[in-house]
Amino acid sequence: MPSQPSKWSHQRTIIFGCIVLCFPVILYVYYKPDIKLPSFNISSMIGPQPCPKCLQPQELHPNCSNREQRNDTQKIQVAAVNNEPDTILLIWFWPFGFKFGDSCSDYNITRCRLTDDRSLYNKAHGILFHHRDIHSVSNLPKEPRPWFQKWVWFNMESPANSGQIPELNHLINLTCSYRLDSHIPVQYGYLVPRTSKQETFKLPAKDKLVCWIVSNWGGHQRRVQFYNEFKKHITVNCYGAGCNHRISNEEYTTIMQSCKFYLSFENSVYKDYVTEKLYAPLIHGAVPVVLGPPRENYEHLVPADSFIHIDDFPNPKELAEKLLYLTNTMTSI
Ligand SMILES: *[C@@H]1O[C@H](CO)[C@@H](O)[C@H](O)[C@H]1NC(C)=O
Ligand SMILES: *[C@@H]1O[C@H](CO)[C@@H](O)[C@H](O)[C@H]1NC(C)=O
Ligand SMILES: *[C@@H]1O[C@H](CO)[C@@H](O)[C@H](O)[C@H]1NC(C)=O
Ligand SMILES: *[C@@H]1O[C@H](CO)[C@@H](O)[C@H](O)[C@H]1NC(C)=O
Repeated sequence: MPSQPSKWSHQRTIIFGCIVLCFPVILYVYYKPDIKLPSFNISSMIGPQPCPKCLQPQELHPNCSNREQRNDTQKIQVAAVNNEPDTILLIWFWPFGFKFGDSCSDYNITRCRLTDDRSLYNKAHGILFHHRDIHSVSNLPKEPRPWFQKWVWFNMESPANSGQIPELNHLINLTCSYRLDSHIPVQYGYLVPRTSKQETFKLPAKDKLVCWIVSNWGGHQRRVQFYNEFKKHITVNCYGAGCNHRISNEEYTTIMQSCKFYLSFENSVYKDYVTEKLYAPLIHGAVPVVLGPPRENYEHLVPADSFIHIDDFPNPKELAEKLLYLTNTMTSI
């Protein structure tokens, strides 16, 4: 069931992680330009956000009654923290070593300070640990943790691509990930209300029916098994290292724009694990054909009629037939 557009217009509490993994372009999309303009716009960048509430120090007042009596060291910490007008978030590792803008104003977030200066450890309200860069708990801070400080576990990869570090279970206060039930959920993209100026989206010219860009290839992957059967029934233009056809970032956009349908096949299938593979074709004007969690899960993220789900068909052959039927009967796509 399509949900109400208003569902997406409320601001989500998201932090800065998205920009690391999402595409640095903000474009908009109308997927049925000659039928009806949708009331939304897709963005893979975050908009104005308050500093996440759950990171803001609570009970920082020295006289806070509902906590046990503070000792002298703690009182000094309280005084230092109260002097600090902003919530300080310390980035312990740059995700995959990729450094991004560390000014909160870049993300239109106020009363927040983002830093990678480890000497601020004792003042930081939150510390962000990117899971894939931790490797071992010996890489975590060694000094005692100030009582007000929260350790935030950050991960945008699915469990299939995230090795477990069992010792972490007892160290973390908050989770930040693509999971909608994490404390600070961060999606790979999201919808924003369309403004009246954006009435003129032109669908890019199409010269290909179905495309797929894939780097990580594994015979055990459900997407590879599906593709091997699917391509017997329809021509798929396959690019990327997985198809021995590497492409540049510019080509990525051009290719996606030139296709009617794009295979938005996730590398592994997990709840809420929906990545830029869904948002990129929507941004560039191709219809996503998704392989990932169930349809209902996608419908929490984007309108029900903005994608085709492989589970809507009993087998790859019938999906291929449907795409051929659509392209032959609908001139608008
Ligand atoms: C905190 O408590 C102390 C002792 O009870 C009191 O003297 C002081 O005025 C309180 N401070 C504030 C800011 O309320
Ligand atoms: C006071 O609290 C800090 C941090 O919670 C702790 O490291 C320290 O040992 C405590 N000091 C005393 C004297 O209890
Ligand atoms: C930043 O937020 C302010 C206040 O919400 C808003 O007026 C402004 O347009 C935003 N700027 C950007 C670049 O999003
Ligand atoms: C964070 O988690 C640790 C470990 O469970 C705990 O000792 C600490 O009190 C928590 N800190 C806050 C501010 O909740």
